[in-house]
Amino acid sequence: MSEQKSVALDLEGIELHYGYVKALDGINFKVNQGEAVALLGDNGAGKSTLLKLMSGVHKQTRGTIRVHGEEVHFHAPKDSANAGIEMVYQDLALVDALDSATNLLLGREILRKGPLGWLGFVDRKKMIAEANAETELLGVKIANLTRPVEMLSGGQRQGVALARAAVRVNGKPNGILLLDEPTAALGYEQKVMVEGLIKRLAAAGIAVVVVTHDLPLAFNATSRMVVLNRGRKVCDVQTTETTYEKIVGYITGALPAQEGI
Ligand SMILES: Nc1ncnc2c1ncn2[C@@H]1O[C@H](COP(=O)(O)OP(=O)(O)OP(=O)(O)O)[C@@H](O)[C@H]1O
Ligand SMILES: [Mg+2]
Repeated sequence: MSEQKSVALDLEGIELHYGYVKALDGINFKVNQGEAVALLGDNGAGKSTLLKLMSGVHKQTRGTIRVHGEEVHFHAPKDSANAGIEMVYQDLALVDALDSATNLLLGREILRKGPLGWLGFVDRKKMIAEANAETELLGVKIANLTRPVEMLSGGQRQGVALARAAVRVNGKPNGILLLDEPTAALGYEQKVMVEGLIKRLAAAGIAVVVVTHDLPLAFNATSRMVVLNRGRKVCDVQTTETTYEKIVGYITGALPAQEGI
C-alpha cells in the first residue's frame, strides 16, 4: 500500500550450517520500513535462526545481509542494535533481580540530580513514571512495575521484554523490530494488545518481523507472510492474498513451494 518503499532489511542467498545441519538454505527475505511481516513455519523450520542472523547472534555461512541498503557484518547483538535493530528472543533476556521499570529503562537509567547522580544513584520515582508513560503510550500494560522480574509470571515477563523492545525502537526513523514468538505465553487480552502494538509500530514506520505459531495473530497484525519449511522459503505472499488453509499447507508441506519466490 505504501507508495514510498524503503527497504529496511534485505537478506539474499542465505545459507547457515550448524555443523552438519543445514538450518537455512538459499533464503531471500526482504522487509520494508512500515511493514509487518510474519515469519511462519513448523518447529525447527529455521525461523529463530533467521532472526538471529538479522540480530547478530549467528553469522551466515553464505549470503548477504543489507540494512537500509548497506551490507552489514554483525559480530554481536550490539552491532545490530547500533544499526537500529531490536530483538525480543524466544528465551527472554531480562535481569531477574531488577524490577520491570528498571528492565524497561536498562541502559537509559535516570540518575538523581547532583552528587548522588554523579555517584550513579538512580531516581526511582522518575524511572517508574517514565516507564509508565512509555508503556501507556504504546498500549502495553505491565502489572507491577516495581516488582522484581523474577517474581513475575511467564506471561508478565514476556510483556516486559516486548515493551522494552517496543520502547527502544519506537520513534526511531529507521527502526527495525524482530520478535520471536512474542505471545507464546500470553493470555487472550494481552495477545490482542500485542496485535495492536505491532500494527501501531508498523503504521509509525517501523519494520517488524514477527515469528509466531499463532496464525490468527499473523493474519490480524501483519501485511505479508513468509513460510519456512526445513530451512527453505516456501511461501512469500501478501496477507490479503492468501488463506489460513493455504498457509497451513505451506507450513506442513502439504502444498509445494511457490515458484519464483
Ligand atoms: N545452536 C544450535 N546448534 C545446532 N543446531 C541448532 C542450533 N539452533 C538451532 N539448531 C537447529 O537448526 C534448525 C532450525 O532451528 P530454529 O531454532 O531456527 O527453528 P525454529 O523455526 O525457530 O523452531 P521453533 O518453532 O521450534 O522455535 C533445527 O533443526 C535446530 O535443531
Ligand atoms: Mg524458534
